[in-house]
Amino acid sequence: MAESTVTSSDNPDAQRRFRAALSMFATGVAVITAPRKNGPPIGITVASFNSVSLDPPLILFSVDRRNLSLHDLSAAGTYAVNVLDEAQQDLSNRFAKANSDKWASMPGMSIERADVVLLPNSLATFECEPYAQYDGGDHVIFVGRVNQHQSRSEGRPLVFFGGRYHTLNGAHRPSA
Ligand SMILES: Cc1cc2nc3c(=O)[nH]c(=O)nc-3n(C[C@H](O)[C@H](O)[C@H](O)COP(=O)(O)O)c2cc1C
Repeated sequence: MAESTVTSSDNPDAQRRFRAALSMFATGVAVITAPRKNGPPIGITVASFNSVSLDPPLILFSVDRRNLSLHDLSAAGTYAVNVLDEAQQDLSNRFAKANSDKWASMPGMSIERADVVLLPNSLATFECEPYAQYDGGDHVIFVGRVNQHQSRSEGRPLVFFGGRYHTLNGAHRPSA
């Protein structure tokens, strides 16, 4: 097992090793969506989604300060988290491309109400209102309060691990 100390932000090699170590934590993939006042909705692929609290119902994700949608997302009155199915890798790539027309020829897009944009066939969706925002270094941490959620009873997640997409090959032992 390689050991490294994260020393300096201007050491690219140390940063690469830090990033590689972080990528050993397998996550799902989600797309954050929100309507935008002037223009197409926001859509950002994230692996940083996580649960926070059951009561009140809170979730979090973090957004890179360089992301073009950060300003509009900070101002949004509502946003949604769309948890991707293993068949939705193309959507993950689509919403990870900055400076592109992310919604061009989008199959079966669903604008539920004026304030909610949901991606059809997601494994789960969480409709949120902003609860808090925190400084997270080069990211901003968004905490959302969940007002509505939907989930499918079956389906398998798109998994991100080691900088690559994976799929689950089935369940192991039940969790304790
Ligand atoms: C699997 C995957 C996970 C990602 N996770 C995040 C994340 O958690 N936070 C983030 O800010 N960007 C993440 N990104 C990168 C953004 O999706 C990408 O920078 C996107 O273009 C930002 O959109 P914008 O510049 O239009 O705001 C991820 C990309 C991929 C492919």
